[in-house]
Amino acid sequence: MTTYADRGFFDRAQAGALELPNRLVMAPMTRNRAAEDGTPEPIMATYYAQRASAGLIIAEATTPNAVGRTYPNIPALHEPAHVAGWRRVTGAVAAAGGRMFVQLQHGGRVGHPDNSGLTPLAPSAVPLPGTIYTPGGHRPAVVPRAMTAGEIDATVADFAAAARNAIEAGFAGVEVHAANGYLLHQFLAGNTNRRTDAYGGSVAGRIRFPVEVVRAVAEAIGPERVGVRLAPGVTVNGIAEDDTDALYPALVAALRPIGPAYLHVVFADPGQELFHRIRADWPGTLIANPALPWPSPFPADGGRAAGERLLAAGADLVALGRAFLANPDLVERFRTGAPLNPIRDTGWMYAGGPDGYTDYPTLHPSSPQPSSQPSAQAEGRLVPAAAAC
Ligand SMILES: Cc1cc2nc3c(=O)[nH]c(=O)nc-3n(C[C@H](O)[C@H](O)[C@H](O)COP(=O)(O)O)c2cc1C
Repeated sequence: MTTYADRGFFDRAQAGALELPNRLVMAPMTRNRAAEDGTPEPIMATYYAQRASAGLIIAEATTPNAVGRTYPNIPALHEPAHVAGWRRVTGAVAAAGGRMFVQLQHGGRVGHPDNSGLTPLAPSAVPLPGTIYTPGGHRPAVVPRAMTAGEIDATVADFAAAARNAIEAGFAGVEVHAANGYLLHQFLAGNTNRRTDAYGGSVAGRIRFPVEVVRAVAEAIGPERVGVRLAPGVTVNGIAEDDTDALYPALVAALRPIGPAYLHVVFADPGQELFHRIRADWPGTLIANPALPWPSPFPADGGRAAGERLLAAGADLVALGRAFLANPDLVERFRTGAPLNPIRDTGWMYAGGPDGYTDYPTLHPSSPQPSSQPSAQAEGRLVPAAAAC
């Protein structure tokens, strides 16, 4: 039996062709700091460069085409201005010694005409339950339009084009977001995919579109520059899989010959058989993002103990979200046993600005530390946590 017991956070590791100085990955986190048109703002370069000591940064969900936009101020990668904006970010991270992938996310039914100017597209005309955040506040979700075969092909091509843009923008690779109830996950789950064509019905039908996207992206930029994020059994954004244990082994088997650099499992639990099944079936790098209490109480150790359990259970890398959000120097804090900054805000996301974003203190400030209290103005802009995944 394979044993992983000697793995530690501070070992060197690999993701595809990329050498990583440690096994700690900054999980993708939507922070809504891009300009209205999806161009990354300069403050995003500061934020990510502050966190460059992560073994790998996976930058936040980024939209591959206009209709795939989820929420306001989400970055994108389908126009030259987006590429130029991201280039500032990747340049700052590289200058600080870091490495970066970017997550490509099409929202599918998690979108709104007030955010994208367009009717959302989804596998089937099944609306998101509840409301969605827009610049004008929460609005009831609209009924999405079921994608035609032509729109499916065009969307696959948009992912591939966005991946090429990501490489042009200086990213080491892209992570295809097939988790948390967005478009690819909507194709996987039976309650959101009611199609009767080749993209629905059986497990083989429902995995077809996600596999086509990953294959197209891998052909565009090379499989060693592609990761895939999965959320088996996760019910975020109204997803209900009724065949998780059949779905994910089939998906992993279909992804394996494409040869992506890594799989990234969200809310991973070493107590679950499926986690071990995925580990056994996946010969490449496996990133695990531990299942921590959500949204609270956030553990004082930031997920360290849960991450160590996942390494011992076979994960190659551990992704942490909120711990990196609040601790730019998380790697050093783990290495030295220093206490962690608590998360200051309970909403996680802002509509903009440095408060709760670039102002978390480090152990050894190289420049004057900003105030650790968010301004009342920033507090007033908090967006509910349910919007962020
Ligand atoms: C503010 C915020 C934004 C998030 N945005 C994304 C995202 O863009 N893409 C994604 O796959 N997950 C997103 N997530 C989920 C995180 O990547 C991660 O899975 C989650 O926070 C659990 O990890 P943690 O317990 O270490 O925070 C977000 C989480 C937070 C807190």
